[in-house]
Amino acid sequence: MSKITIEGGHQLSGEIKISGAKNSAVALLPASILANKKSVIYNVPEIKDIDYLIKIMELLNCKIEHKEDALYIDSSEIKNIPIPEELSVQMRASYYFMGALLAKFGHVEISFPGGCNIGARPIDIHIKGFEELGAKVEINKNRYSITAKKLIGKKIYFDFPSVGATINIMLAATGAEGTTIIENAAMEPEIVNVASFLINMGFKVRGAGTKRIEIEGCPKVKDGVIEVFPDRIECGTFVIMGALLGNNLKIKGIIKEHIEALLMKLTEIGVKYKIEEDVMTISKCENIKPTYIKTLVFPGFPTDLQQPMTTLLTQAKGKSIIEETLYENRFKNTYDLNRMGAITNVLSLHKLEITGPRKLKGTKVIATDLRGGASLLIAGLIAEGTTEIESCDVILRGYSHITSKLKSIGAKIEITE
Ligand code: EPZ
Repeated sequence: MSKITIEGGHQLSGEIKISGAKNSAVALLPASILANKKSVIYNVPEIKDIDYLIKIMELLNCKIEHKEDALYIDSSEIKNIPIPEELSVQMRASYYFMGALLAKFGHVEISFPGGCNIGARPIDIHIKGFEELGAKVEINKNRYSITAKKLIGKKIYFDFPSVGATINIMLAATGAEGTTIIENAAMEPEIVNVASFLINMGFKVRGAGTKRIEIEGCPKVKDGVIEVFPDRIECGTFVIMGALLGNNLKIKGIIKEHIEALLMKLTEIGVKYKIEEDVMTISKCENIKPTYIKTLVFPGFPTDLQQPMTTLLTQAKGKSIIEETLYENRFKNTYDLNRMGAITNVLSLHKLEITGPRKLKGTKVIATDLRGGASLLIAGLIAEGTTEIESCDVILRGYSHITSKLKSIGAKIEITE
């Protein structure tokens, strides 16, 4: 397992560029098998989750070439073989092969991970959607076998605006006869990124980014081309670092509309920043006010920035409250934050109280999950002394070249195997 070692207290200045969005890219790769023969995906982030998906696609006999930041995919000789457990359980997003293979072949066999350490994370909304389109779903332990002689488009209502289910049903619906309508769809930018990819292939997709999406198949599918949006969560993570340690830190790849909720909160607690085109300039906020944050689906405050924000609020002057409404176990990073000197108190499965300001001291910590790991990394950057983050591979799953990016703007950080 790799370890990250940080010497805290160094200002961050200079410029970093945000990479392509993990949560778009992990859907775009499986979606690429819906193209006629070939696809190009630009601005793909170099993260472990992408490596896993490439392995699965090569197993399905797709040919993939990595040139600079682009992936050139040839799926003309794709084979619909059952996806082995050891690959598909590595990451949740492997479930996008369900919708894509169902649309392409009318059948898919894949093992699927249960929950992870931020919550149960069932996929009942995905399964219900496939069944509504006419598929038969057989589940044996965590092995899913989904078959549809014919997918028929229809109106589907989501009990919850699930990001994954919205994308998965959009993919499956491209293979359905007639029009599929998703009501109460998720509105996250990743949905729009995937919809644009499908539209470029010739499918009809209307309303992506709103609560109602209409999808129709197309008789003559074209090759696919798409560019991955900049990662709004990586961006938000660096913005939070800038608010704590920035000295005119420049962050390139800002899409304001994708991080509006974060920007509103930062302004509310006293953080100043400037945005010109897609570049933000931000410096350390000397007087951070406490606040109340409730995580919500887009465009609300993103759950994936809840843990990085917790570290920022350990420096606020007073008591803050965070309500995590999407997951039931997403405060695990607070155990090690408290060991570093923070005062946080888990009031319930969904509520956290943070009392600041608190001087943090470096120590040995363990990354429990991707964004929890990011929160500890930020704590290490502001702490006095040295912080060692064990099992930091989870961080590398979602933040492309994070240690080299941080080194380039003045952080004292090393990664060792
Ligand atoms: C995506 O997960 C992201 N992952 C998550 O980011 C993110 O936290 C989440 O959306 C919410 O924004 C990827 O895109 C790969 P959901 P997803 O389906 O699609 C419940 C990160 O750190 N639910 O919107 O799994 C579920 O349990 C990761 O980058 C059901 O009950 O999110 C959760 O409580 C972490 N049944 C809530 O909905 C379902 O069928 C949100 O899930 C599906 C979801």
